[in-house]
Amino acid sequence: MPVPRKIIIDTDPGQDDAVAILLALGSPEFDILGITAVAGNVPLKLTEKNARKICELAGRPDIKVYSGAIRPLIRELVTAEEVHGKTGLNGPELPEPTMKLEEQHAVDYLVETLMREEAGTVTLCPLGPLTNVALALIREPRIAPRIKEIVLMGGGFFEGGNVTPSAEFNIYVDPHAADVVFRSGVPIVMMPLDVTHKALTTTKRIDAFRQLGTRVGLATAQMLEFFERYDEGKYGTDGGPLHDPCVIAYLIKPELFQGRHCNVTVETASELTMGMTVVDWWGVTKRPKNAIVMRDIDHDGFFALLVERLGRL
Ligand code: BDR
Ligand code: CA
Repeated sequence: MPVPRKIIIDTDPGQDDAVAILLALGSPEFDILGITAVAGNVPLKLTEKNARKICELAGRPDIKVYSGAIRPLIRELVTAEEVHGKTGLNGPELPEPTMKLEEQHAVDYLVETLMREEAGTVTLCPLGPLTNVALALIREPRIAPRIKEIVLMGGGFFEGGNVTPSAEFNIYVDPHAADVVFRSGVPIVMMPLDVTHKALTTTKRIDAFRQLGTRVGLATAQMLEFFERYDEGKYGTDGGPLHDPCVIAYLIKPELFQGRHCNVTVETASELTMGMTVVDWWGVTKRPKNAIVMRDIDHDGFFALLVERLGRL
């Protein structure tokens, strides 16, 4: 067994964030150094609490959870209760967490950890707006060359946007932070809507979680049943896109995904297209290639991996 990969999950749970966290917790490939919460799907007070609820659901109250940025760098916070429900984790009845929130601020934690750990060994997994990661890069630019890579869920190009016609939620909420991250020089792997809209939580797939017959399996089925109802209505599909677990699945089985190394630039000027990820897929500019942009997924393989790993919890 190779040495587990050190990861920090930056997240705004969110049911799909929760499934991503569960996938990481169920996978021996990872050494989860910490989870940092950011405001996004719901306000920060709820996202940090939800992260702890999920660790406890998985029987891992030892995981360190940090609270980070309460709002985006410049713009007002936009949340998504219409998708995720009032708590952000609507669906199952999960008890209030008893594990403590760490006292250190998430941004301080990111800087301190990245300066302390051996350079090139820590992978960041952002699953929400990029505010915490951008703040860490601004606060201590020396962390950039020390980060192994950033594998993030965000953006969309061929598929368009999900919160405006051209912008995906995570990038839209804090486009200025996303701009800092995409210009940072850190190797980036991007899981955009082009991928996640091919990973649908069909009835059959949700049943497979329920049939695990465990607390985690049942809670996952209940979370996904709540989460998909908004998108099923919006897109007219059986099931909704399961975004954030794509990040963790890529780190376990990169062969499930296909993409291309290209330039990604974030729109921060036009109100009409604010937060759009402009992907130079065809290489029509000389802008530097700063991200591997994924476009395809083996969705059956992805769900098989999820069921197998959540089954270990
Ligand atoms: C992203 O936005 C949130 O609603 C989800 O958790 C995911 O990270 C999808 O656009
Ligand atoms: Ca998220």
